[in-house]
Amino acid sequence: MSQVVKMERHDAVAVVTIDSPPVNALSAAVRKGIVDGVNAAVADPAVKAIVITCAGRTFIAGADITEFGKPPQSPSLHDVIDVIENCPKPIVAAIHGTALGGGLELALGCHYRVATKEAKIGLPEVKLGLLPGAGGTQRLPRAVGPELAVKMIVGGDFIGAAEALKAGAVDEIVDAQVAGGEAFAKKVIADKKPLRKLRDDDSKLAAAKADKSIFTNAAAAANKKNRGLEAPLAAAEAVSHSLDQPFDQAIKSERELFTKLMNGEQSKAQRYAFFAEREAAKVAGVPDGTKGRDVKSVAIIGAGTMGGGIAMSFANAGIPVTLIETGDEQLKRGLGIMQKNYDATAARGGIPADAPAKRMGLIKGMVGIENVKDADLIIEAVFETMAIKKEVFGKIDQFAKKGAVLATNTSYLNINDIAAMTKRPQDVLGMHFFSPANVMKLCEIVRAEKTAPDALVTAVNIAKKIAKVPVVVGVCDGFVGNRMLAARGKQAEKFLFEGALPQQVDAVLTKFGMPMGPFAMGDLAGLDIGWRSRQDRGIKSEIADAICEAGRFGQKTGKGYYKYEAGSRAPLPDPEIEKLIEETTAKMGIKRRQISDDEILERLMYPMINEGARILEEKIAQRPSDIDITWLYGYGWPVYRGGPMFYADSVGLKKIADRLSFYAKQTNDPTLEPTPLLKKLADEGKTFASLAKG
Ligand code: 3HC
Ligand code: NAI
Repeated sequence: MSQVVKMERHDAVAVVTIDSPPVNALSAAVRKGIVDGVNAAVADPAVKAIVITCAGRTFIAGADITEFGKPPQSPSLHDVIDVIENCPKPIVAAIHGTALGGGLELALGCHYRVATKEAKIGLPEVKLGLLPGAGGTQRLPRAVGPELAVKMIVGGDFIGAAEALKAGAVDEIVDAQVAGGEAFAKKVIADKKPLRKLRDDDSKLAAAKADKSIFTNAAAAANKKNRGLEAPLAAAEAVSHSLDQPFDQAIKSERELFTKLMNGEQSKAQRYAFFAEREAAKVAGVPDGTKGRDVKSVAIIGAGTMGGGIAMSFANAGIPVTLIETGDEQLKRGLGIMQKNYDATAARGGIPADAPAKRMGLIKGMVGIENVKDADLIIEAVFETMAIKKEVFGKIDQFAKKGAVLATNTSYLNINDIAAMTKRPQDVLGMHFFSPANVMKLCEIVRAEKTAPDALVTAVNIAKKIAKVPVVVGVCDGFVGNRMLAARGKQAEKFLFEGALPQQVDAVLTKFGMPMGPFAMGDLAGLDIGWRSRQDRGIKSEIADAICEAGRFGQKTGKGYYKYEAGSRAPLPDPEIEKLIEETTAKMGIKRRQISDDEILERLMYPMINEGARILEEKIAQRPSDIDITWLYGYGWPVYRGGPMFYADSVGLKKIADRLSFYAKQTNDPTLEPTPLLKKLADEGKTFASLAKG
């Protein structure tokens, strides 16, 4: 009947099975196959009920995102759902895996739904900058009530089968989708159950129609964490029409809102980010079929800020960890912080009440590096000093079992030099986590000169297993993220000398969509770290040094580039800092000037992009989209701007190259001149994206 959809009759039940790997997305072929399958079942007089189900790992995961932005092909998903909903024979959706987006919308168009107990359902369209565009904003509120519906649609999060059953989105939990679907369909036939159409059932809307605040409060709560994104707001509006417009009109409104989002810049960026994330997990230059090594247990050396957070990430995924320190005291301190952290999350309801004990139970504290001996993966997170790292790797080499992968969490140091301290450099690589490591999703996997392909694949696989987003990068000072950050930091600091204040610089970036600017970030991380490092290297930075000399180390001392009220993390502009900056620059004989926000944005962003281009030239990053993923998951780059390289393409590389040349001259800084790759692309009228296509 179709390559991707087949129909079989089992007694009086026709089973329409979608088999379109990997995730049964609703491509044009699948849509047509479903309509043909249902029509064939309707035409067969022996068929009394129909089951729609999927083969492979999951129920339909949504519309086929690769078709977005291309000319529409019929039948549309709306047409498919119309055929299903208006079918004269009852249709049961039998769900396993995840019924997402258009997949759930299709299921909601069926007359009944069953799901296996591990199945999940959700409308995650907002994560692609969209809203459910095939009736989801109208049928889900009718299935589960508008409060839960707006929460699910605005947040884009999934719910499990048990909750879906309780809420009314599914009718029964079954052991296996096909057999369970068929059994349910037979009951529908036997009990002569009606052709239940959610579109005609307003019963769950009544309370919110009578009291509008029920919905507006739920919508406001759902939108609370939303910064600068258009889709969640539009999604809440679409759901609200379930209360104030008749079904058909509300579907029209949904369509209009969907189309506007689909054609907008934000969704384009978010769809790009979806595929970029999946692309990042594909490692170039590794022979086909390379398998990772087995990782059953992990040892982490150093129970400080990073070691603790990394250990928690493994424990959260159920992987046992040996956490190694130099002494009992350091161990006790580290474990104490982790316990406190888990307890606070449990108290907030973020994890179940018994989770802290379970997770801490997976972390075994030990003193002495000899305790790495049973670990399949060893991650070093000791102080950022080459001599110490080298000593530690020498010892790891002595005790680690054969074939263990040896990773360092260094932020800047040369991993080739660290690997050279072992007799097995092929097993050594970087796993650079970001702080707080139990929260931040990025993990730069640093491939050193001699890293073996299977060691690299092991690190990528395990990062995914602990819910991180791995990006493979090469060895250089600061790898991808921190190297680009340094280019931005240099300009941010210069602005203070030239005439701007920390709050003006930071505000430009928060307005752009970053969670914070460089000075608030410095206050959060602690200004003393950079100060000590400058002292070690004999580098001066008059303003930053003066701030530290005044005992202002950032949030931990209640004062830094900003001041902080007791117990608050909110940065407040401080007239003392203004005075300090003005006095310091006056002493240096600098005439301060007014700096426009446009100049600040350009001079913060473009040098970073230029550094990104240099990173591509040097093949430190495999592709421009990997750089974008680094910034999205490691530095809070706003997803609706796609990442710095995507943003650069949207601004236009010619403009960026011209402005860099201009600023190179204006600030007498030749390092700002566009790098050869950027210049070449700009001259040829090309984009960074064209490199990926090439
Ligand atoms: N369309 C096209 N391709 C898709 C897809 C989709 N909806 N969902 C996943 N894929 C592709 C991925 O790009 C990947 O391709 P690759 O192997 O070539 O890189 C492959 O399927 C496997 O995906 P994952 O690596 O993500 O597999 P996981 O098992 O980790 O996750 C998943 C599976 C949970 C289904 C996840 O892929 C996912 O969240 N998909 C997107 C779901 C979604 O957003 N659906 C809504 C779409 S918009 C919509 O439906 C609009 C409607 O309202 C009109
Ligand atoms: P930290 O100072 O908080 O912790 C380091 C820990 O290592 C201390 O508890 C110390 O007792 C322990 N240690 C030192 N020598 C040891 C040894 N020989 N054996 C066992 N334990 C030993 O440092 P932090 O911030 O956790 O940094 C660790 C590493 O992570 C550094 O390389 C750093 O550059 C890197 N990193 C830090 C980030 C941050 O934001 N703090 C972000 C990403 C990476």
